[in-house]
Amino acid sequence: MDGTSGFPANGNGAAAPADLVWPNDETQVPDWVYTDRRIYEREQERIFFGRHWNFVGLECEVPKPGDYIRSYVGEVPVVVTRDMGGGFHVFENRCAHRGAEYCREYRGNTERFVCPYHNWTYDLAGDLVAVPFRRGVKGKGGMPAGFDMAEHGLRKFRVSAYRGVIFATACEDMEPVEDYLGPGIREQFDIIFDGTEQVLLGLHRNILPGNWKLYQENLKDPYHATLLHTYLTTFGLFVTSNESDIMVDPIGRHSALLSRRPQGRPDVSEEDSAQIAAYREGLKLNDESVLNFVREFDSSWSGAAMTIWPNMTALRQTNILNTRLIVPRGPNELMMIWAVFGRASDDEAMTRHRLRQNNIFGPGGFLGIEDNEALKFVQDGLRRSMPRVGLALLGDDEEETDTIITERAIRAMYRYYRETMAL
Ligand code: FES
Ligand code: FE
Repeated sequence: MDGTSGFPANGNGAAAPADLVWPNDETQVPDWVYTDRRIYEREQERIFFGRHWNFVGLECEVPKPGDYIRSYVGEVPVVVTRDMGGGFHVFENRCAHRGAEYCREYRGNTERFVCPYHNWTYDLAGDLVAVPFRRGVKGKGGMPAGFDMAEHGLRKFRVSAYRGVIFATACEDMEPVEDYLGPGIREQFDIIFDGTEQVLLGLHRNILPGNWKLYQENLKDPYHATLLHTYLTTFGLFVTSNESDIMVDPIGRHSALLSRRPQGRPDVSEEDSAQIAAYREGLKLNDESVLNFVREFDSSWSGAAMTIWPNMTALRQTNILNTRLIVPRGPNELMMIWAVFGRASDDEAMTRHRLRQNNIFGPGGFLGIEDNEALKFVQDGLRRSMPRVGLALLGDDEEETDTIITERAIRAMYRYYRETMAL
């Protein structure tokens, strides 16, 4: 069982496929990392069911006792509940009887889950509480005499809620989430999740034809931000001349891209704009209020795009607050579940402002849509062409952290990945 309970062994002993050899060069990432089914399965065992905390949802998605949502740990469907005492539980969305994915609604409020197939019934902690005709009918049929309901509950994960964010793990002896985040990253996390009550403003779900790691890379890649995103560059949310800091935790799995937006529209030098195809001189917004920045964070940075390994991104950009849950769906596909939130202390004007501003992100967002396309283009290239390696050469690992023209955070992630995956 190797540190997990009720889950299959997490494969830490199995050797990596012998035909997959990583080049002896930290700046190269082989194509098979994104396309090979064996790698994908190894990731499920070693990463999502290994020694990691998986993001499964926000407390504000299950605000009342009896509330539940469907979520995922890696590719495995789970249910997240808040019980009558306020505690959180995460268990598999797979009936202990014949395996039906019993919870069919995305969210709701209930006292129990009744599997539609044969009506086995589970409580909010995932324990089996009823089996119809357990003793048979007229003394015939039914469960064997020794059947113990306590032994046939749903498979449960260990759960920790930290500052309104719910995490789950299959590992029995995980360190606390605070320690998992580590000092520098936790500080930035605590600015987004400031401990005050959150309110869910909305959710998006979208499916993308790309490997799940590409989304982690996307938010560890400040290089693309000013080149791909016309909106960011042209309207000044993020330009090459903005002050920035690229933070990576000491072991390379989490990161934070911090940026400071100047007041008004920033200068983009002629030299920079000549290199940025996405920059559009003279483009104007009909409604500039979408860019308003109401000061609210205890930070000198106006934006922070965070990746928390393995499956979470958290963003504050101007007054946008959102999280993304990354769900792998085979080597070539991922699902994103976006949660947009505000604070219980927001007045109506602030809520409207946040909602308006959130049009920038999301699956069809002013700039979110471009990342989606770029990821598809990458996966298409990796799948359809002759195998080779991708490059992450920009910047160097010892440099000052205040340039965005770097792929340092991607290299750090793959150092950690290779170690975890024993590749
Ligand atoms: Fe769920 Fe039979 S499969 S009760
Ligand atoms: Fe982007």
